[in-house]
Amino acid sequence: MDNRPIGVFDSGLGGLTAVRELRKILPGEDIVYFGDTGRVPYGSRGREIILQYTRQDIRFLLSKDVKYVMAACGTVSSTYPLCEAAGLPVPYTGVVRSAAEAAAAASKNGRIGVIGTPATIRSGSYEQLLNILRPEAQIFTRACPMFVPLVENGYVNDGNPVALLLIEEYLTDLKAAGIDTLILGCTHYPLLKKMIGDFVGDEVRLIDPGKITAHAVKAALQSQNLLATPRPEGGHASFFVSDSTEGFKASADLFLGEYKGGPVQQIAIDKY
Ligand code: DGL
Repeated sequence: MDNRPIGVFDSGLGGLTAVRELRKILPGEDIVYFGDTGRVPYGSRGREIILQYTRQDIRFLLSKDVKYVMAACGTVSSTYPLCEAAGLPVPYTGVVRSAAEAAAAASKNGRIGVIGTPATIRSGSYEQLLNILRPEAQIFTRACPMFVPLVENGYVNDGNPVALLLIEEYLTDLKAAGIDTLILGCTHYPLLKKMIGDFVGDEVRLIDPGKITAHAVKAALQSQNLLATPRPEGGHASFFVSDSTEGFKASADLFLGEYKGGPVQQIAIDKY
């Protein structure tokens, strides 16, 4: 048993899609969430900057005495080397592996689409794993640089004309390629799931990396005997951001659904 919190981070609010699932499947766990809202987006930046930000984010979570680090960000997960993660004092999980495994298992026709930020798509992270998991599969990728700002600014209501235009722009070729599975390779994208699903059609299975990886984190905590002692009052979530807390408060419920969240504090991430 280990009553320390689980640490979760993302460049902004997208990782809250993973927190939502963690709260559902691990209601007794404390969670510390960091959203780097002052420096979002990560996905259009170069590798060195993403690594620098990632290391600071992880140092911040470790300063909160977390027992586990979950990078709820496709961009970070595609950039931060696993050999470096292995040297951390606590276990680390990114979102790429679980999502790739779910897609490899779900696809019937072996035609799998991957969308993500420019850094994620450039890294080839999903393709490399899918090539190992399903060597005969054909992988179709597309960077969607405008999706993160769209989501961070709340353009996610069903039928939003700007969102629909961008979905058509980014997904027309993937749809025409006959994919039956689409990895939403960035944790912001599940906010657009309904509109993306309507565009690509019911026959295309959508894979949500944050949600799937939350289950992998649960399994890892169980197998490493790191679950918290059950408490009747349940776990507590605390949220930290690097920009003003107002923006977070206004948008967080979009990501967290029925869960209204706990206290939010602004921190100076540059100090870590
Ligand atoms: N949620 C992040 C991801 O999964 C967004 C990255 C960004 O800030 O561009 O990739």
